[in-house]
Amino acid sequence: AIKVIICLALGYIFGCFQTGYFYGKVFKGIDVRNYGSGNAGTTNTLRTLGKPAGYIVFLGDALKAVFAVWIVRYLLFPGLGDVTKILETVTALGVVLGHNYPFYMNFKGGKGIAATGGFMFALDVRIALIAAIVFAVVFFTTRYVSVGSLAITALFPILMLIFYPGQWVVFGLSLVFTALAWWRHRANIKRLMNGTENKFEKKKR
Ligand code: G3P
Repeated sequence: AIKVIICLALGYIFGCFQTGYFYGKVFKGIDVRNYGSGNAGTTNTLRTLGKPAGYIVFLGDALKAVFAVWIVRYLLFPGLGDVTKILETVTALGVVLGHNYPFYMNFKGGKGIAATGGFMFALDVRIALIAAIVFAVVFFTTRYVSVGSLAITALFPILMLIFYPGQWVVFGLSLVFTALAWWRHRANIKRLMNGTENKFEKKKR
């Protein structure tokens, strides 16, 4: 149990590093949460500050999940087999929680998709690759980032079942990623149903 708490805490601390928020503050003197969808993640930074900013934020937010998982896998709890995998997954959950609900930003952060993507990459490149392809297909056909995000987070537990059959703890935890992502996208879902969700067009600020 103490290992689980350590991993969750470590992940949360890494997750709190809000690349989008810091990028806006440091380079542009703005809080990206005051613009666009009000989110602090990749999509809204890109929407507000342009593509290079968006790419940097995606990398930062994805890599924090990768690093946190690697620390658990290679430094803290290496070589425990399935237990290590469970601890890695708990760590990544911590990252997503820290990203979505950073304590020093009134618990108003991002939606955890880049971080979840980073975790998929750290966990299993096959899963990350499939998710990336599905995201690209959904995004380019619908032009909604949120639909792509919802699609890949729904797909994640299914991929876990396929690649890690019988690993029920990890599967159960993967459902939490889905629940967290869909919960954080509830405004997007409402907008999608009303037909008012932001399509992805290059918008000038
Ligand atoms: O990953 C977040 C994306 O799915 C939606 O972002 O800013 O349009 O709410 P946003």
